[in-house]
Amino acid sequence: LTPKQLSGKKIVMTAGPTFEPIDPVRGITNQSSGQMGYAMARAFAQAGADVVLVSGPVALATPLGVTRVSVQTAEQMRQAVMREIAQAQVFVGVAAVADYRPLEVAEHKLKKTASVDSDGGRTITLTPNPDILAEVASLPAAPYCVGFAAESQNLDDYAEAKRLRKRLPLVIGNLVSDGLGTADNCVTLYDETGRYPLPPLSKPVLARRLVDELAARLNKA
Ligand code: C5P
Repeated sequence: LTPKQLSGKKIVMTAGPTFEPIDPVRGITNQSSGQMGYAMARAFAQAGADVVLVSGPVALATPLGVTRVSVQTAEQMRQAVMREIAQAQVFVGVAAVADYRPLEVAEHKLKKTASVDSDGGRTITLTPNPDILAEVASLPAAPYCVGFAAESQNLDDYAEAKRLRKRLPLVIGNLVSDGLGTADNCVTLYDETGRYPLPPLSKPVLARRLVDELAARLNKA
């Protein structure tokens, strides 16, 4: 029996959107189907890794052999990640985490006419969410951290800036027009040695390719 590529590795990852409540029936969220993250979780498990998938609300089945922790908010996602991260060799942040959440969450459903602004509008004050990936990457014994960058323009600049700012060994970037909610995705890898564009691939095929890319880098790290 030959050992698999990622045997003995614990991988903690996030996927899907977060949902930040405004009141018991409303909230703000990001557009994310979770397909890419779930495809990667499946590929990691098939490569022999012990995978903990911290997932926001998505309509997807948990891949075989993957331990899923379901959360709603960024803060819950952060806490679930921090509970698991000490034993992990790899962290992959695929989730589309909401950058902000409502400062106050109303206990009861807000009535349409209550406390509107003078112009008839309504103001929701937002407060920043924790950056889970940056926090994990700055831990004293940080695992190998992989980030995603989904941008609508200037992909190279933004992805490289993200890699440096969050101090990530590897960033996987795509233009949202190439991957959001679609079956295929076209990504470019950014690491300290350069940029590596991959051809358009279906998400399951791309996930397996990313396992190869990650395993090769872990062997060197
Ligand atoms: O800063 P930006 O959201 O564009 O960075 C994207 C990367 O950072 C993704 O890997 C995403 O999962 C992660 N992230 C995070 N926590 C946040 C925001 C983004 O882990 N609050």
